[in-house]
Amino acid sequence: MLDHLKENNRVWAESMVSGDSAFFQRHEGQQDPDYLWIGCSDSRVSANEIVGLAPGELFVHRNVANLAPPQDANYRSVLQYAVDALQVKHILVVGHYGCGGVAASTQDGLSGPVDHWLQLIRDVHEDHQTELDAIEDEHQRLNRLCELNVISQVRNVASDIFVREAWKRGQDLHIHGWVYSLSNGLVTDLDVTVSKAEDIARLG
Ligand code: CO
Repeated sequence: MLDHLKENNRVWAESMVSGDSAFFQRHEGQQDPDYLWIGCSDSRVSANEIVGLAPGELFVHRNVANLAPPQDANYRSVLQYAVDALQVKHILVVGHYGCGGVAASTQDGLSGPVDHWLQLIRDVHEDHQTELDAIEDEHQRLNRLCELNVISQVRNVASDIFVREAWKRGQDLHIHGWVYSLSNGLVTDLDVTVSKAEDIARLG
């Protein structure tokens, strides 16, 4: 089964060593990425490809609607490892316009774990109710909620003890908020970069 994927894999592995015969040997023993990507699981938002990074260059965590919940052990384990062990220099929280998870958070009728998971976005919605209510076009309103969600997750990451401790010991670490457009493949920097604890207040 899945022969086409196995064939793709064989072709890909060959292509990687065709221009760089030691590629896999070099990466086998260790990874040394400068970036942590926290993005949506959406199949259209593939982390490495969007920013043109090769295997070994991007540490990746993806979940529904690119959330960074302080109580989520999965996300926090990734964050701890990225900050403490890999000592990445940049954490990119990357949302995307047209996010199904963000849209679902505004609808009724969800149940089970995804309903619980999306509560974090409902909290963002509530915090910005007035601004969002003023946007008449539903599409634009949801896209703004995607941006506000990213900013909120940047705040979560920046407020985390692992990040705060890293800054305290003088580690160079920047947290960025980006949104990816499915319609043209380009990212927009929301200009909410946090490089020290004092910057968190700027996020509003
Ligand atoms: Co999404």
